[in-house]
Amino acid sequence: MTKKLAALSLVAGMLAITAPYATAEVVLPDAVMIDDGEVAKSLTGSAGNPENGRKVFANRKQGNCLACHMNKDLSEQPFHGEVGPTLDGVADRWEEPELRAILINSKIALSEDTIMPSFYRLKNGARTMDKFDGKTILSAEQVEDVLAYLKTLKEE
Ligand code: HEC
Repeated sequence: MTKKLAALSLVAGMLAITAPYATAEVVLPDAVMIDDGEVAKSLTGSAGNPENGRKVFANRKQGNCLACHMNKDLSEQPFHGEVGPTLDGVADRWEEPELRAILINSKIALSEDTIMPSFYRLKNGARTMDKFDGKTILSAEQVEDVLAYLKTLKEE
């Protein structure tokens, strides 16, 4: 084997070893492209966890979606708001790429003057607390988890 070939096969061997452990790159907030109201690809490169998403959804320090949205599945939880539409059957009304865009940036995906926060955007708007300045309200993983939960909300 020539030196060059040996080096190549060494590199190939290293790739083969590291590949299964390498986690997909997370799409950073500034790099997210909303295309026609849609974000087709997962922010984390993989599907979210609906059970964790349900928790993030209800957690007042995280999604706090219940502050504005009603939802039968979580009707045992206090502090239901009715500012936003009920999210029952939301998965029938929107496709996954649309729901992802709504969570990431409601101002682009829904309307410029919606009171719904943008959960994966560095500039969250005047209504968002200062502590989120320069940070996103939810992590990429939490967005994908909430999305996975929303996808379970279908009307029977
Ligand atoms: C401060 C209130 C508020 C919070 C908090 C909020 N939303 Fe909203 N959301 C709204 C409003 C209001 C609308 C309707 C669009 C409009 O009129 O601005 C909406 C619309 C939506 C829609 C589109 C619903 C449809 O059927 O058209 C989805 C999906 C949604 N919200 C999901 C969420 C999720 C998930 C969370 C938590 C991570 C959340 N929202 C947090 C106010 C809120």
